[in-house]
Amino acid sequence: MKDDEILHFLKANEQSLPILLFVFFILFVLPLLYFYRKTKKVTSRQSTRPKGDPQKFASDLVESSDRTEALQDLITNTKYLKEDEDLIFCMDLDFFQKNVDELKEAFPKNTLHGIAVKANPATGFLKYSQELGLGAEVASLVELKQAIRCGFSPEKIVFDSPAKTRNEIVHALKLGVTLNVDNLQELETVRDVLAELKEKSGSLVGMRINTQHGAGDIQATSTATLTSKFGVAIRRHREEIIRSFAKYEWLNGVHAHGGSQGCSLQLLVEGARILMDLVQEINQVREENGYPKLCFVDIGGGIPTDYSSVRPSNLFQRYAQMLRKEVPELFQSQHRVITEIGRALVVNAGWSIARVKYVKATGASDKNANQRYTIAITDYGADCDVRNSYMPGVWHRRVNVYRPNGQLKDTRHLQLTDIVGPLCFSGDLLVKGRRLPSITKGDLVMIHNTGGYTLAMWSRYNSRCAPMMVGYTAINKSFKWQVLKSKEKQERVLEFWD
Ligand SMILES: Cc1ncc(COP(=O)(O)O)c(C=O)c1O
Repeated sequence: MKDDEILHFLKANEQSLPILLFVFFILFVLPLLYFYRKTKKVTSRQSTRPKGDPQKFASDLVESSDRTEALQDLITNTKYLKEDEDLIFCMDLDFFQKNVDELKEAFPKNTLHGIAVKANPATGFLKYSQELGLGAEVASLVELKQAIRCGFSPEKIVFDSPAKTRNEIVHALKLGVTLNVDNLQELETVRDVLAELKEKSGSLVGMRINTQHGAGDIQATSTATLTSKFGVAIRRHREEIIRSFAKYEWLNGVHAHGGSQGCSLQLLVEGARILMDLVQEINQVREENGYPKLCFVDIGGGIPTDYSSVRPSNLFQRYAQMLRKEVPELFQSQHRVITEIGRALVVNAGWSIARVKYVKATGASDKNANQRYTIAITDYGADCDVRNSYMPGVWHRRVNVYRPNGQLKDTRHLQLTDIVGPLCFSGDLLVKGRRLPSITKGDLVMIHNTGGYTLAMWSRYNSRCAPMMVGYTAINKSFKWQVLKSKEKQERVLEFWD
């Protein structure tokens, strides 16, 4: 239609134009709007879905040749993966060291990097961490004792926990470790203990602040929410917080930790920004009172980790750059910066091997009873990977299947497979309905990225013995292995129930 024809048509139909427009809106615009909203919803949901979704990500079966070589060495040259050893945790200590080096390079030299002991408390591993010059962040009295036992000096230990007892506080203050009080009531206990101690404590004392600036993708691991149990809520208690620092000269640091996994770097940086604004106010009132400025600013951990790959995170540099840009005072003032990183240092340095003990087959569905569905039974269960089993949509495990001799299985013909653990409930699953190479009894399943928050969260259900953890370094493919944590003895498990 030409322009003058259109004008003529409009004039002739002037009366019915609103009706025509209405019909046009119903027929064309509404469906378009509906379609647009639907696709938008899907993409926003996808953006929060953990990387490596079981059904969607082909990269799941990509193996790491480094780890295949390490596995073959473990099988041929060590005694650790014996016939009766069906599960073993391994730490690539070179990989871990690279992570540590990258972290140290990214931050100013005098930063205290306290590795979060909760992520991987194995004795040999913590000793190794200490030798690399890390400090330790601990969250219980036993973690504190473990850090001391593994050689960390008290000045390099930071004690956080929302539930410290008076006795634990006495112990920590006598030792001289840095202690972050979690709430205003604990602050009073610390005040009383400090007054009662016969000798002056060498501890630095900080206050954990809940910056309340929002959750990441995973609610259960987000700690800067409005109602989080951690720290003193900044929105409700800002005045009281500042008053406490004006009142107690010995209260000389602040701490915030926004969450562990699921929090973007931007979210972590926003938390640090809020914390530093508070530090400026605190320092001002302390100056007015003739007190020195704060000694430390502890920005916690929480650097997100990619579970869909075995590449190093490379995030420390970006994180530090973002902090330099958006919170420049963090690195420019006299205080010492403390970090408490766990996951991003350890998770991708670890992998596990589970031997397939039995294999069962069933039909894929009622409709397709002839399509084989494999169920492989292993010892990798909910006891050593609590989060994966109980929140399978959130946490994701990438696996590869090997022959008993360490040769990777052919990935051209895949079958729907469950790899399950040994425990007495159906949700005890490592992977569910994943397309994997055909598995037979005796095969080995490599589970990637298990270096943190796996054995550390060990559960006693069904009273099984916790497996061994070994570590290795390699020069020119010559591997050196060491035990980081031995296999738990049955007597220890029995003792637990006494
Ligand atoms: C207080 C505190 N600091 C540090 C961490 C370590 O976090 P991530 O392992 O995610 O770095 C945690 C973990 O929950 C924590 O609660």
